[in-house]
Amino acid sequence: MTGGAGFIGSNFVHYLVDNTDDVVTVLDKFTYAGNEASLAGLPEDRVTVVRGDICDAEVVDRLIADTDVVVHYAAESHNDNSLHDPRPFLDTNIVGTYTLLEAVRRHGKRYHHISTDEVYGDLELDDPERFTERTPYNPSSPYSSTKAGSDLLVRAWVRSFGVQATISNCSNNYGPRQHVEKFIPRQITNILVGDRPKLYGEGLNVRDWIHADDHSSAVLRIVEAGRIGETYLIGADGEKNNKEVLELILTTMGQPADAYDHVVDRPGHDLRYAIDSAKLRDELGWLPAFQDFERGLAATVDWYRENEAWWQPQKAATEAKYREQGQ
Ligand code: NAD
Ligand code: TYD
Repeated sequence: MTGGAGFIGSNFVHYLVDNTDDVVTVLDKFTYAGNEASLAGLPEDRVTVVRGDICDAEVVDRLIADTDVVVHYAAESHNDNSLHDPRPFLDTNIVGTYTLLEAVRRHGKRYHHISTDEVYGDLELDDPERFTERTPYNPSSPYSSTKAGSDLLVRAWVRSFGVQATISNCSNNYGPRQHVEKFIPRQITNILVGDRPKLYGEGLNVRDWIHADDHSSAVLRIVEAGRIGETYLIGADGEKNNKEVLELILTTMGQPADAYDHVVDRPGHDLRYAIDSAKLRDELGWLPAFQDFERGLAATVDWYRENEAWWQPQKAATEAKYREQGQ
């Protein structure tokens, strides 16, 4: 698998170790978003970590020759970064995916592609529809457009070259080991260091939250039983606006619900994401285990409280970058 030192990838590695007998090789470049500590303590006979770039055709070819299934998590993943420096998003998300596809094609290996609901653009707040596998692609940001491009490459490699691939598009994840640049960990760690949380604009934007472990169980199910060439949307009916989430974080942490600052909004800020995951549930019998967002969020707060050594080294540089952007 790729990207196993990042947020969702590392949760997938832990999930595999805890729930299967699989042996995993992680290919990760350890960008600012990759963290060795996220894979510390895992059994050496189950998990091997290789430091390398998914754009490096030689290393990719060598590893894929020895692998049964490739699950591709590695990406440049943060919208705000993509608005300030899009280039790494093109390299990793597009050229990196192309490099992996060529290798799985050469070696005839099963491939699963991890993507996002952001490829579909956004919905109005009062739209009764949610995203489905048939929603047309309409990405807004350099991040989401490069993810959309990577999905389209996968579809083309399935159709033109018979590559044995599936795709999943998941909604916003929360849980342990998420970089402090992202919304939920940024606010939790701001409170822990005595800074005020920062809400973009009025905070009415809606995200459809799912726990990272539920994302992992869904991916495993698709790898085991998904139909080749198909796309599956992953979501847990977790729509909440940013203001609600922030107020919940504050009250969970014993702070007044209004103890935050409004900061300048993100340009082109998508209004609402919402997933209809009926295909995954009906066809593959998947169900999320984390039905209670408040409990999952409280457990995530506890994880950041107990793991300051994990996030503290990233915090000052991340906030310095946001300050420069007025956020
Ligand atoms: P992340 O930024 O936390 O981790 C990305 C990982 O990829 C890091 O370990 C990084 O070192 C590695 N990486 C980056 N460029 C690389 C390269 N060129 N070669 C090898 N490794 C490289 O990201 P995340 O939030 O865990 O997201 C993982 C995947 O899930 C991405 O494909 C993302 O688009 C998708 N996704 C994320 C969310 C979310 O809420 N975060 C939701 C849906 C889908
Ligand atoms: P983010 O975690 O960056 O995920 P995405 O852009 O992929 O949805 O942001 C989630 C939401 O939170 C998004 O609407 C932007 C908003 N946001 C804030 O209000 N304040 C912040 O400090 C950050 C980082 C995000």
